[in-house]
Amino acid sequence: MIRFKINDKEVKARKGWTILETAREYNIEIPTLCFNEAVAPSGACRLCMVELKEGGWSKTVASCIYPAAEGINVYTETDKVKNIRRWIFEMLLASSPASSEIAAMAKKYGVTSTRFTIKDQNETCILCGLCARVCEEVVGLSAISIVDRGVRKKIGAPFMQPTDVCVACGCCVTVCPTDKMESIFDNVRKKNISTVY
Ligand code: SF4
Ligand code: SF4
Ligand code: FES
Repeated sequence: MIRFKINDKEVKARKGWTILETAREYNIEIPTLCFNEAVAPSGACRLCMVELKEGGWSKTVASCIYPAAEGINVYTETDKVKNIRRWIFEMLLASSPASSEIAAMAKKYGVTSTRFTIKDQNETCILCGLCARVCEEVVGLSAISIVDRGVRKKIGAPFMQPTDVCVACGCCVTVCPTDKMESIFDNVRKKNISTVY
């Protein structure tokens, strides 16, 4: 077992566990969006940031990908962590303003408005990539993936071309943290997945 502290409380982790897995074992709340136990963690959303402190030294890490290690001191509610969280929620509110799930989660952490520019009032996708990862890692297909870069980044079929690879299993809908996949599942079922994402 690996022994360390979260919020000054002694915790024990099995070899291979992350900080997030250990925190969940002890019912210590850390918000997450791109994490789902069904797939390997990607560290995409950064919402699960925590602070590691040792003497006068500290650094912030994504708890869903940072391995539990002997003797570390982890803090989940420091000013630094809260500031990062607020910043990320504000970015999410700007990138997916139509998502009631994101709005509710942000509100729970005290964030109800954003300083960032909203480009599309109707957008709900946060580009967490969970849908594509479950399609590849669990279903064994790669019917969808994150395509393009920067502001043009979106979820789509490879090369944004019509594809027959999708079997309409719905796994991507199940893991999506917003209602994006659900809202387009009719098109997914019709295998019209080159253009709908
Ligand atoms: S459709 Fe859903 S699961 Fe896929 S990237 Fe967007 S928010 Fe994430
Ligand atoms: S519905 Fe299609 S895109 Fe979604 S996980 Fe299943 S095969 Fe992949
Ligand atoms: S939940 Fe850890 S980076 Fe998204």
